[in-house]
Amino acid sequence: MKDHKGRVTRDGIRIYEQADFAGMHAAGQVTAQILDEVAEHVFPGQTTGAIDAFIEKRVVEMGTTSATIGYRGYKHASCISVNHVVCHGIPGDKKLKDGDILNIDVTVIKDGWFGDSSRMYVAGKMNRKAERLVQVTHDSLMKGIEVVKPGNTFGDIGHAIQSYAESHRMSVVRDFCGHGLGRVFHSPPNVLHYGRPGTGAVLEEGMFFTIEPMINLGRPETKVLSDDWTAVTRDKSLSAQFEHSIGVTKDGYEIFTLSPAGKFHPTFG
Ligand code: MF3
Ligand code: CO
Ligand code: CO
Repeated sequence: MKDHKGRVTRDGIRIYEQADFAGMHAAGQVTAQILDEVAEHVFPGQTTGAIDAFIEKRVVEMGTTSATIGYRGYKHASCISVNHVVCHGIPGDKKLKDGDILNIDVTVIKDGWFGDSSRMYVAGKMNRKAERLVQVTHDSLMKGIEVVKPGNTFGDIGHAIQSYAESHRMSVVRDFCGHGLGRVFHSPPNVLHYGRPGTGAVLEEGMFFTIEPMINLGRPETKVLSDDWTAVTRDKSLSAQFEHSIGVTKDGYEIFTLSPAGKFHPTFG
């Protein structure tokens, strides 16, 4: 199939060319570099607004553009989601406390390509329950990525994530999902973090998308606060998320947003 601009699509999902991987890699590496640098700005007493200001400054210094500033009226260079905030936390004046866990999500545009990634950080020292959640969430993303190859399906990705998280008696958020990206921020498909093997669209070389599971210690239900952005767990349980931008290759995948310093995971490097 071709879309109205003559570009190849499958099930409405754009198929990118070999040469496009380099653009995605370059954009993803800017995002990953900024997420590496931000680690030392996370500590008790720090505000999420100050962290966001650092991110915005670095996005500009690296000659890139923030994809989130101006996106549907959003005003910040990052989303910072603390403790029971599931995603889309708005940076502000609130100070981090010792033991807070937070997801920082950054998307930059470099030469028209989008690099979208998020990781967990901790202010001070992480408690055992939080550490378990962060570890299982990280590993569930990696389980999802490991099944990415041509011929497998999006349902295989969701199933790998869901079965792993639920085997640790944690729950997968259903209300938000990963997405295609490339020359645009959010495009088909919706990448669900739960599902049944063999269902959904078939993966094909040249598909670019994010996987970004949100995992809760309690129940999966979320609600959006009156600011129209901040999503929280309904039961106030702790939530974590990791996100990579990836591309399907001939026999597997390329992770565009790998940490140049090997710092994707907050405590184990
Ligand atoms: N980066 C988020 C994602 O993973 C989207 C944030 S949109 C914003 O898709 F407007 F809230 F920043
Ligand atoms: Co995303
Ligand atoms: Co993101």
